[in-house]
Amino acid sequence: MIKLVLAIETSCDDTSVALVDQTGYVLRVVSATVDLDHEPYGGIVPEIASRNHTLHLLPLIDKILNETHKTWSDIDGIAVTNRPGLIGALIVGLVTAKSLSQIYQKPMIGVNHLEGHLVAPFLSDDKYKPNFKISETCITLAISGGHTSLYYVSDFAKYKVLGTTRDDAAGEAFDKFAKMLGLGFPGGVRVDQLSKHGNANAYNFPRSMMNSDDYMMSFSGLKSSAQRMLDSLSAEEKESKKSDLCASYQEAIVDVLLSKVDLAVKEFKCPRVCLTGGVSANSRLRERAELWALKSKVQLLIPPLKYCTDNAAMIGYAGLLRLQAGERHGLDLGPSPQSLEGDFQ
Ligand code: KG4
Ligand code: ZN
Repeated sequence: MIKLVLAIETSCDDTSVALVDQTGYVLRVVSATVDLDHEPYGGIVPEIASRNHTLHLLPLIDKILNETHKTWSDIDGIAVTNRPGLIGALIVGLVTAKSLSQIYQKPMIGVNHLEGHLVAPFLSDDKYKPNFKISETCITLAISGGHTSLYYVSDFAKYKVLGTTRDDAAGEAFDKFAKMLGLGFPGGVRVDQLSKHGNANAYNFPRSMMNSDDYMMSFSGLKSSAQRMLDSLSAEEKESKKSDLCASYQEAIVDVLLSKVDLAVKEFKCPRVCLTGGVSANSRLRERAELWALKSKVQLLIPPLKYCTDNAAMIGYAGLLRLQAGERHGLDLGPSPQSLEGDFQ
């Protein structure tokens, strides 16, 4: 019986470790966030990410065991992100998971990072409880730095991809705009903060494919149009109108994302929606989604910010459910920069 899993997430820049039980309850999640190490380069540097994981991972595992007063005899399995992600970064987590699984004779499972995001809304802790179950059908929008996809989810591991972005991910669109405006890295959260003081109608940005009548999305046109817009403004205007620019740009992304969710809810007559992934931390998206859900009589589930962005708890729950179903991986498990065929069918 798999009741408690130790999870490791090292697919990108943050190192994260969690202990999750069979109900999705997060005993604890500890992470080392290293944005400052990457900031001078304006983006994530893979070598720096790998090196940081090697520094932080084992101390984080010791820390979580100490803080929860658990020992390896309490742990029934190990879950580790093995795809998609930066290869060097994934390898650090994977090698560590394999070693621990051998030393302590625990079953191990490799988890798709995106499946982690899909189960994140169903984690729970002392402050957060989901308002519907992972086994209930829902429309899930997973929006992160590398991915933007809309799914019809009929149960755990039963996913149908309805649509994705043709080019940039929504998070990438936020990050690139932040870079154009010189707001630094990571950009999404800074655009979000500045937007709070801005007028979302001040500038008109395109909503590509919003009315395409399918679930495909595109954000590269928005990015190019923003570049043209910024090039046409004086340095003073750019500086003094930063908040208006951010709010208007953010509104265009939120409009597109919510229009696709609305279309899916209507087509599939599905009264439940999850938003997940780093961009679901966006305060304007959360606010607009709440209003829309109320009006549309839809049950909306958006995890707290710490489960929206990358974290090991979501990997732990996805891994635990797979271990419970009898799945196991051996020492031959490798990392993959992409999802594998069959991951989301
Ligand atoms: O899920 P995540 O932590 O990592 C990936 O799997 O990519 O998502 C990171 C993305 C970044 O693009 C970041 O700018 C964006 O999520 N993000 C936000 C906010 N917080 C994080 N975007 C908009 N508003 C936010 N508050
Ligand atoms: Zn992620």
